[in-house]
Amino acid sequence: MKNVAVIGAGTMGNGIAHTFAQFGYKVSLIDVAQASLDKGIATITKNLDRQVAKEAITEADKAATLANITTFTSMEEGVKGVELVVEAATENVDLKLNIFKQLDTLTAENVILASNTSSISITKIASVTNRPEKVIGMHFMNPVPVMKLVEIIRGYSTTDEVTNLIMETSKKLNKVPVEVNDYPGFVANRILMPMINEAIYTLYEGVAGVEEIDTVMKLGMAHPMGPLQLADFIGLDVCLAILEVLHTGFGNPKYAPCPLLVNMVTAGKKGIKTGEGFYSWN
Ligand code: CAA
Repeated sequence: MKNVAVIGAGTMGNGIAHTFAQFGYKVSLIDVAQASLDKGIATITKNLDRQVAKEAITEADKAATLANITTFTSMEEGVKGVELVVEAATENVDLKLNIFKQLDTLTAENVILASNTSSISITKIASVTNRPEKVIGMHFMNPVPVMKLVEIIRGYSTTDEVTNLIMETSKKLNKVPVEVNDYPGFVANRILMPMINEAIYTLYEGVAGVEEIDTVMKLGMAHPMGPLQLADFIGLDVCLAILEVLHTGFGNPKYAPCPLLVNMVTAGKKGIKTGEGFYSWN
């Protein structure tokens, strides 16, 4: 496998494109708007500069990585000749189903279709294609060039052959893949989101303030970020959407999103991306 298309040039998409390109893959980065592609390439360039400054890569590696990425606003053009597509569009079910329907008609039947979804069912995404056995979850963590994990999610029909190929491909990106089955929140978010939700309840009930809660978890549990800072980093709207998937999927009240989280998202306080969440980012 040498040619990969990445759909979506946002935070996750540009990180995924950066990583594949850095490890020698030819990447077609696809987004609907040229402005989003330009912003994605600017972010990749900035993050490569950061790696050069840390002497993790050379200027020549940076140039080779950027030369491996071509941008497209047309999905039809962008997926020509690729062996793998990794979809990293906005976390919206209807949007993803629509993209996978199109990918199924635009790509040859042997092409593997992967989604970076953080919680939407891979089995459901696969069901709109005629190749459910070749649809799989490839869930990278943010920031993608830094985080070692790729959660590999097997849909109901995903074959061993496709799973093994995607596990091997992840290793070629210097990542550690972990295979999991397709149930709400998979493993990463089934465990992470209840912790973040509990931190928000702890704030809501006045047990402690934002910085106190984060300090307890950072210094007491050696987490690199406290849960409230991490929620700002992930996006409060994304946290809410994942908790709703867990709550609906399991029908268990323990996953009910904290009313404070719901209020903050309704008020447009979504974390770093809007400049304000549990912290002010301006
Ligand atoms: N691209 C390339 N390199 C980057 C980078 C990026 N976007 N961001 C940071 N780095 C590098 C830095 O250059 C630095 O490199 P060295 O170790 O070689 O010095 C290293 O990463 C650490 O960065 P910093 O020193 O700037 O900052 P830090 O020590 O505070 O680490 C962090 C930053 C890696 C983000 C760290 O705070 C962290 O691990 N946070 C938690 C991240 C996390 O939990 N991510 C998962 C979120 S959940 C998710 O993604 C999935 C979901 O479905 C919701």
